[in-house]
Amino acid sequence: MKDSLKLKLESLYLSGEREVPMTRQTKSLEKKLVQNVVVKNNPPSQSVNQSTEALLAAIREKMGDCQRCRLAKTRTNIVFGVGNPEAELMFVGEAPGSEEDKQGEPFVGRAGKLLDKIIQAMGLERETVYIANVVKCRPPENRNPAIDEIQTCGPFLLQQVEIIQPKVIVALGTFAAQTLMQTESKIGMLRGRFHAWPNALAQATFETAFPIHSVKLMPTYHPAFLLRNPNMKAKVWEDMQKVMQELGLKKKEASVT
Ligand code: URA
Repeated sequence: MKDSLKLKLESLYLSGEREVPMTRQTKSLEKKLVQNVVVKNNPPSQSVNQSTEALLAAIREKMGDCQRCRLAKTRTNIVFGVGNPEAELMFVGEAPGSEEDKQGEPFVGRAGKLLDKIIQAMGLERETVYIANVVKCRPPENRNPAIDEIQTCGPFLLQQVEIIQPKVIVALGTFAAQTLMQTESKIGMLRGRFHAWPNALAQATFETAFPIHSVKLMPTYHPAFLLRNPNMKAKVWEDMQKVMQELGLKKKEASVT
């Protein structure tokens, strides 16, 4: 198949398009693309690494200078996500704040510095995990993202998850946890244990043609909440120790200070 056609189909596929008339050739390409993503669970190789990176880049390219919702009018930068495309651990926050909006990178403000400390306390580096938000543009005055904004932007996060295929997602704070799980339960009720994700409600809400693989979701308190309530850091550390155990990371005595 011609490279240009293949690229076109890949880009359509990544944007969730399923209306292209399917010939035998395009069907086999679709299968290959899915296999390409799914194969990531097998021993990583240079080519897999390149392909996950390329697939993420294709999604970012697809977003372009996104004007799909009203947040485009007030944002400075789209904050797509950063980190290891092969990460076993992904952190998902709510939406960029002012510093993130300026720099185009998630969690680089005060809350981000605390997240870095949490990651380091787990024996990891920021570069070894993947960090993203439910919504990629800063809502004015840091208000919560609106439902239509989540519906517009959410599919990009889902595509990131499906390409990266992390084993564990840590949902940072009420908003990320409630949105990902499609629940109104309080973060205090949700945190401290793994939830199979996507659950049925999330699957029904985030209608996507992507075969979202099963992830263990650990909701925990948002670092910005910890800045205001430092006594809750111990709870987050409890949650992170469970994540570390799940990922087979060495147990550490240290906590987040
Ligand atoms: N809070 C978030 O939820 N995300 C960021 O990127 C920064 C702060």
